[in-house]
Amino acid sequence: MQEIKIELTKNPKAKPQDESKLGFGQIFTDHMFLMNYDEGEGWHNPRIVPFGPIELSPAAMCLHYGQEVFEGMKAYRGANGKPLLFRPEKNMARLNLSNERLCIPLIDEEFCVEAIKALVKVDEDWIPKSEGTSLYIRPFIFGIDPHVGVHPAHHLIFCVICSPVGAYYPEGLNPVKIYVEQKYVRAVRGGMGFTKTAGNYAASLKAQDEAEKQNYTQVLWLDGVERKYIEEVGTMNVFFVIGDEVVTPALQGSILGGITRLSTIELLRSWGYKVSERQISIDEVAKAYDEGKLVESFGTGTAAVISPIGELKWGDKIMTINNGEIGEISQKLYDNLTGIQWGKIEDKFGWVVEVE
Ligand SMILES: Cc1ncc(COP(=O)(O)O)c(C=O)c1O
Repeated sequence: MQEIKIELTKNPKAKPQDESKLGFGQIFTDHMFLMNYDEGEGWHNPRIVPFGPIELSPAAMCLHYGQEVFEGMKAYRGANGKPLLFRPEKNMARLNLSNERLCIPLIDEEFCVEAIKALVKVDEDWIPKSEGTSLYIRPFIFGIDPHVGVHPAHHLIFCVICSPVGAYYPEGLNPVKIYVEQKYVRAVRGGMGFTKTAGNYAASLKAQDEAEKQNYTQVLWLDGVERKYIEEVGTMNVFFVIGDEVVTPALQGSILGGITRLSTIELLRSWGYKVSERQISIDEVAKAYDEGKLVESFGTGTAAVISPIGELKWGDKIMTINNGEIGEISQKLYDNLTGIQWGKIEDKFGWVVEVE
């Protein structure tokens, strides 16, 4: 394995004192991880350096053609005080899935998990301590060739930055209102929907903006061809409990394979629930609602973990799910997933990785 050089900052920043005001992604730690790719040399020069600006040519390819991929994961302060990561190998595997689709040279997944651990160790004191808080970790890769012309980059940077983030639900788990998007689409099969790349999020901004104007938290995307089948919610995968079946859209290339989604499916199956990964149309959800069979619905993602859906708006139809309250399954999943992530309950699955 390559050696990671460490250059510590000479000017450490003051750490946030009031952890109730952390918010999300606003403050960054003292250090970042960098590694370069140059054709002929491969990925090289891994290093941890003080957090700061990166010099780029205005012709850098990522700025023009969006050859960029990223990940989102968290470090938690475990019950014994040690930093914990949750299934980091899955994030690095997904980064390589994105890399492959965007013609970005693959990374050594194991090495990159070690690099993230090393960065978390250096900035360990930045992991907040209050209930529900964590250190958000953002690995990303972008092409830097100073060249205006559409082709895969030959020179790239892999960077990891970290941000202490507040509790997503400072007042406890809170159901959200979601708007079913009928005008815009996010991705189509054969496109990049299954990757975590900047363009997917740029494509979502307009719909998100319109949903917020109508007082909805996020949009529920329908498939880009028939506008009929459910895809995912803004930054979450989505689940519906219909009768005794827990349904989530199958991974068919247009949605992100969430790590919280995967963990949710594995947990539910271990508890004996019937979980189906299949196509589900918005008509089926509405029919189940009308027949009183839509028991609960929730989103899954690293930021919120589990986000109960209290209301779904589809055109003129407003579906109030479980009286707008948190469902039994949502609560049980939230308690168990966060319990495992924070090292408070036994990790039977071996999901948690301690940073030594
Ligand atoms: C579009 C999208 N879907 C789903 C998810 C949930 O994925 P994960 O559970 O890995 O955070 C995210 C968040 O990363 C996302 O951005």
